[in-house]
Amino acid sequence: MNDFVIRTGQPADAAALHALICRHQTEGHLLPRDFTDVERHVTQFVVCEADGAIQACAELAPLSTTVAEVRSLVVSSDFRRVGVAARLIGEVRRRAEAAGFDTLCAFTHDARFFVRQNFSIVPHLWLPGKIAKDCVGCSLFRHCSQHAMVLPLKKAARYGSSPVERRRVAVA
Ligand SMILES: CC(C)(COP(=O)(O)OP(=O)(O)OC[C@H]1O[C@@H](n2cnc3c(N)ncnc32)[C@H](O)[C@@H]1OP(=O)(O)O)[C@@H](O)C(=O)NCCC(=O)NCCS
Repeated sequence: MNDFVIRTGQPADAAALHALICRHQTEGHLLPRDFTDVERHVTQFVVCEADGAIQACAELAPLSTTVAEVRSLVVSSDFRRVGVAARLIGEVRRRAEAAGFDTLCAFTHDARFFVRQNFSIVPHLWLPGKIAKDCVGCSLFRHCSQHAMVLPLKKAARYGSSPVERRRVAVA
């Protein structure tokens, strides 16, 4: 695991990210992404690089001022089951907390991985931002078999993460 670099996506990564997502779209029931969409949001991606190539990615995509979604989580086949996805989720979570979001969500056909990352299954209606952004235009709207999952976040950026910082906010 020491040879992996986790970093923010850059414009030059767009083609590799798009290819990685497309390769695993069917397997992961991933939301289809066209190249322009990936290119436009490339700096929202956290990427995992090894041997000079991108082997894994996840996007932190805002749905509202309070809720952000983990989108396009993919680990290439040869790099699985060594904790890469767990590290990506940890980094996405850290960034979402630092940005002041209250909730991180994900939509998935297989809830097990996200349950192990402390997400919980909730009704889709708890995430109206997702419904407005993706679901209403989807042919599977109202017939969707994906699980909506949420992880409550600490409000580190707004209120301070340590007891001392929280006290400072409380007395200010
Ligand atoms: C789902 C997916 C992202 C998981 O990626 P991953 O990097 O293999 O995930 P992790 O390694 O963090 O965890 C997977 C398993 O490896 C295990 N693992 C992690 N580190 C390990 C280690 N050092 N040694 C042995 N096993 C390990 C985890 O405990 C977990 O095991 P479990 O399934 O029995 O609980 C990957 O399979 C994938 O890209 N699938 C296709 C796309 C997809 O489905 N995306 C999600 C859409 S919502």
